Amino acid sequence: MQKKVYIESYGCQMNVSDSEVVASILARDGYTPVKSAEEADLVLLNTCSIREKAEYTVMQRINEMNNLKARNKGLKVGVLGCMAERMREDLLEKKKVVDLVVGPDAYRTLPELLEKVGTGQKAVNVLLSREETYGEIEPVRLDTNGVTAFVTIMRGCDNMCAFCVVPFTRGRERSRDAASIVRECEQLVRDGYKEVTLLGQNVDSYKFRSEDQKIRRSDNENAILGMASDTVDPAGRPASAGPTTTDFADLLEMVALACPTLRIRYSTSHPKDMTDKVLAVMARHDNICKYIHLPVQSGSSEVLKRMNRGYDRAWYMERMANIRRHMPDCAISTDIIAGFCGETEEDHQATLELIREVKYDMAFMFKYSERPKTLAARKYPDDVPDEVKGRRLAEVIETQKAASAERMLGYVGQVHEVLVEGVSKRSADHVYGRNSQNSVVILPRMHEGVELGPGTFVKVRIASATPGSLKGSILEILSSHAQPV
Ligand code: SAH
Ligand code: SF4
Ligand code: F3S
Repeated sequence: MQKKVYIESYGCQMNVSDSEVVASILARDGYTPVKSAEEADLVLLNTCSIREKAEYTVMQRINEMNNLKARNKGLKVGVLGCMAERMREDLLEKKKVVDLVVGPDAYRTLPELLEKVGTGQKAVNVLLSREETYGEIEPVRLDTNGVTAFVTIMRGCDNMCAFCVVPFTRGRERSRDAASIVRECEQLVRDGYKEVTLLGQNVDSYKFRSEDQKIRRSDNENAILGMASDTVDPAGRPASAGPTTTDFADLLEMVALACPTLRIRYSTSHPKDMTDKVLAVMARHDNICKYIHLPVQSGSSEVLKRMNRGYDRAWYMERMANIRRHMPDCAISTDIIAGFCGETEEDHQATLELIREVKYDMAFMFKYSERPKTLAARKYPDDVPDEVKGRRLAEVIETQKAASAERMLGYVGQVHEVLVEGVSKRSADHVYGRNSQNSVVILPRMHEGVELGPGTFVKVRIASATPGSLKGSILEILSSHAQPV
């Protein structure tokens, strides 16, 4: 009999992507994914530790598993991801309902661990690895709209930002084989996907060294690259060039060339590492979206120093100017933390002022939450009172809302290319999609008797804007993306 697994993902896109790797590993072990915990023989919660609140949400969800187990005696419950890594055996102590704890680098051992769980024992594997990238595993796409997909290009993080738990939960940084990334993107195209997002905690430090790995390209791709032979190294140079290093700009260009019909996005850039070479590649290729998520965290150089971010305000603003020089139409979003250790009113004002100056299209904004073991937890007192953090966060949100509104209004009247993702949740007569700048665009569902299905590219004139989305009128249905508009 087929065993059924339900996987629930919390936290960042990397967890969503990891869950698809887990589904693939479990498929070989006879599990099929199902859409609800109620139908499953195995429930896996892929968890996040980034803030205390994220962990609290998961702890509540684990409690709910007691009811499910009462109804389904055979049910097994596993905790994966960052909380599994951070809390280890403690999770089994704290929550008796949990049978299995598996960290982000140990998913290949799931079949053996499940065998142990099957005999009524508890199982834990939280070993971190310096090599694991799950490179050759073909993910099973879960919860997919059939249009957009994530592809993980690297794992871990070596940055040690003072506030951040990720280096502890995800281990050392390592980059996935460039050829396997290109192959996965090509497979997405064959499966009908229209957009990929390349994922890493700091994509700008992607680096893959190949000694002898050569990738084979189709004649068509070689023609694009101007190559006679069909054997080139991952950076696109002839195979005879010997060992090579592929950096993020090279990788981005390889995917853009290998998959000309695919829209390409990526996340996350780091201001200290973002190169002009990446910006030039973005500007050169129509199928790379003009959107960069560039977390600033704070507008105060003092705070940035304590955060160990490796850049100051002036450096960040210089990166900003370079983006706009290469791509005047590029949208920028960011992450901001309010109330980090030692943040003064002046520091906070500097953040507000930076938001007004940059005018982000969008931002994720958080109250600082102290995480165990981090540099900040060990070195700096969490000394901004909670009500001050709350007030500052509200001001950050308010200021950013005004910036978004201004950016969105600026798009009115422009012609954009939109990729339709699905039917609008608010109105069955409308569909939603995204433009290259990653803003949500709402469109009529029908155009001249043709229904706009998911995966359709449309040329649209932006008719109106709210701070969160745009409304467009359809000019033309396009056969593929990146047509001159
Ligand atoms: N690798 C990405 C960020 C991953 S975490 C980067 O470097 O940009 C996503 C965001 O969560 C961070 O950018 C930060 O704004 C926020 N964050 C991380 N740790 C936090 C903490 N302890 N408290 C509040 N917000 C935090
Ligand atoms: Fe965390 Fe900094 Fe790494 Fe991002 S770059 S994951 S914030 S340590
Ligand atoms: Fe959370 Fe881990 Fe991602 S802590 S944000 S799930 S890397």
